[in-house]
Amino acid sequence: MSEEFELDWLDLREPFDAMARSEALAQALLARLPARPRMLDLGAGTGSLFRWLAPRIGRAQAWTLVDQNREMTEAAFDTIADRAETVGLKVTFPNKKTMLVHAPGGAWRVEAIIADLADAPRNLPLANTDAVVCSALCDLVSGAWVERMAAALRVPFYAALNVTGRDRFQPPLPGDALVARGFARDQGRDKGFGGRALGAAAVAEMQRAFSARGFAVETAPSDWVVRRGETHMSSELAMGHAAAALSQERREAWRIEAWREQRLALAAQGRAAVRVGHRDFLALPAGR
Ligand SMILES: C[S@@+](CC[C@H](N)C(=O)[O-])C[C@H]1O[C@@H](n2cnc3c(N)ncnc32)[C@H](O)[C@@H]1O
Repeated sequence: MSEEFELDWLDLREPFDAMARSEALAQALLARLPARPRMLDLGAGTGSLFRWLAPRIGRAQAWTLVDQNREMTEAAFDTIADRAETVGLKVTFPNKKTMLVHAPGGAWRVEAIIADLADAPRNLPLANTDAVVCSALCDLVSGAWVERMAAALRVPFYAALNVTGRDRFQPPLPGDALVARGFARDQGRDKGFGGRALGAAAVAEMQRAFSARGFAVETAPSDWVVRRGETHMSSELAMGHAAAALSQERREAWRIEAWREQRLALAAQGRAAVRVGHRDFLALPAGR
């Protein structure tokens, strides 16, 4: 079964994602893009990566957002249009499936494909793509999926925000190690990509697969930093970690629930800080 993500969760995490993604790695990607790049965004959700990367590209560009969830894609169009209009950019719809954001450096064209990425890359329009990008996706996929992508791609592959498994909740509590163990186990669950999800092994697996195909690979840290007082995010993280751990460590349910309640109390008092380990990944094909 594939994973369902909540619109509210993607909304909450967007500013943390934006702060966390490596600027240097994004610039290394941008340096390899043609004059009017055609970007394919896998698991695009509500378009968070588009909103971060499109202004950095800064000139005419075309994006295809791919997601299995139609509601997400509709929210992506609405959110992109709202945010663009908020900063004074005109938005038009030349046909039913295309949106144009009229930015000063040239139009940003946005379209979407509803597709199950478990079947990728055979259901992707790779012949019309200059870069394949994604954010918060590759820890969900399987090793076989990464292998197929590395074998099929002749263009840059950029995967932002892959979990590293190094999460630190502050202040420390006795249940931290137990919750971390259950959370890590849950990350390996099959997330609908044809095998165990890579979880914290995603970056190492991508490094191996893309290097073996002659790509130059680079990675950079992109941890979320949740400060004391950012109560909503630290509460959601505590609840998310506890729920994942509970699904794996049923015999320890009472300890995990106690951990969750302590964390929520700390968050409510503005005393909870969290660092969630992530790493960005970039693979550039040789000889371009
Ligand atoms: C963690 S969210 C990330 C969304 C977005 N990239 C972001 O950074 O906000 C993962 C996204 O992948 C999509 N997804 C998960 N499994 C999928 C699949 N098998 N096929 C297509 N999309 C999938 C989900 O619907 C969701 O939008």
